[in-house]
Amino acid sequence: MYAVSLSLENYRNLPDASLTLSPGINVLWGDNAQGKSNILEGLYYFARGRSFRGVPDRLLIRTGCEFASLRLSCRREGDTHDTELGAVIPQHGRKRLTRGGAPLSGMREMVGAFRAVLFCPEHLTLISGSPALRRSFLDIAAAQLSPQYVAALSVYTRALAERNALLRQAAEGENVGSDQWEVYAEQLARSGAYLAQVRSAYVRRLEGHVASCFADMTDGREKPTLRYQCTAQTPQDPQEGELFTPAPDEALRASMAAALTSDIPREIRAGTTLFGVHRDDLTIELNGEAAKLYASQGQTRSLALAMKLAEGAISRDIGGGEPVYLLDDVFSELDAARREYLLSALGDRQVVITSCEPETWISGVSGVAWFRVRNGTVETR
Ligand SMILES: Nc1ncnc2c1ncn2[C@@H]1O[C@H](COP(=O)(O)OP(=O)(O)OP(=O)(O)O)[C@@H](O)[C@H]1O
Ligand SMILES: [Mg+2]
Repeated sequence: MYAVSLSLENYRNLPDASLTLSPGINVLWGDNAQGKSNILEGLYYFARGRSFRGVPDRLLIRTGCEFASLRLSCRREGDTHDTELGAVIPQHGRKRLTRGGAPLSGMREMVGAFRAVLFCPEHLTLISGSPALRRSFLDIAAAQLSPQYVAALSVYTRALAERNALLRQAAEGENVGSDQWEVYAEQLARSGAYLAQVRSAYVRRLEGHVASCFADMTDGREKPTLRYQCTAQTPQDPQEGELFTPAPDEALRASMAAALTSDIPREIRAGTTLFGVHRDDLTIELNGEAAKLYASQGQTRSLALAMKLAEGAISRDIGGGEPVYLLDDVFSELDAARREYLLSALGDRQVVITSCEPETWISGVSGVAWFRVRNGTVETR
């Protein structure tokens, strides 16, 4: 799969930008604060249905404008026609998503139309950073492959926020009936069991890819192991080779539901839900030791890079066809050996790279399409 062309209208600082992309390496270059990451963010919007910078949609609209409009043509390898995707984000009201001109009811219907792996400097701390970063890694990767995962995540997130609000109300003395706690326990257990099961199966798949990329980058003496660490019982593996189970494991669901009603007074005192997949983690070990504590700076970077490449491999295997790789400012953060490895690992896939100083790393790479980004405009060179 690759992006053929992208148009952004009144998106961030870009009044009207259009790019026709090469199926190989594309470099967006220019000074700081010109709009390079904004373009990447606009492209990634179609993979995730929101900004990768964690901001609400309305901040994506160019200051002073009524709406932002994004259009993407993408194509699957071997296809003879493009898929046209559109998003209109208004100041007020709901965003409108379209595929081939037809309206979609939400992001779930767009899942899989465009898949991308984003790699930005923040991901270099995937190993050493907080568990939230690793959960988000898993959620973003799995959500691009399954509308059912998107749905479960949205049920879980909403139910968790509502239950936390209820816990705070109860702390202030409001009377909350046991039936209300049971409704939330059921919603969180059902969606949570599904999420845990998919995440766990995803991590199992991830491990082999991470180990082989890591071995390629290092002398191969230390072997990474990856585990999904679930606060409930360990999820059962789905059928051999399967990633997305049709229904959650019943035992897991039941144990999660029981935990969510087991000590509500403690949760009221804490003012937050103490149990569930929002507290799970992905643990990474090197030779049996927690990589977070044991690995060198260089090894944690190599592991992070390996995880991103592994995400791409799983996207290809499950989604059918390579995803697009978006690298925001990562080259300036990597040393020459890792840059070289990354470029060779990405081979002839479509890559879109932002950089202030491409000349420091691009020499020797052929077939690059250049886009000069200056003050919200794009020129092809
Ligand atoms: N909604 C908006 N309306 C207008 N301008 C915006 C909006 N949101 C962000 N900007 C501006 O867009 C500019 C470009 O941001 P962007 O992150 O794309 O820069 P960049 O070229 O990637 O720079 P760097 O090399 O520093 O990463 C910023 O100066 C920012 O203030
Ligand atoms: Mg940037």
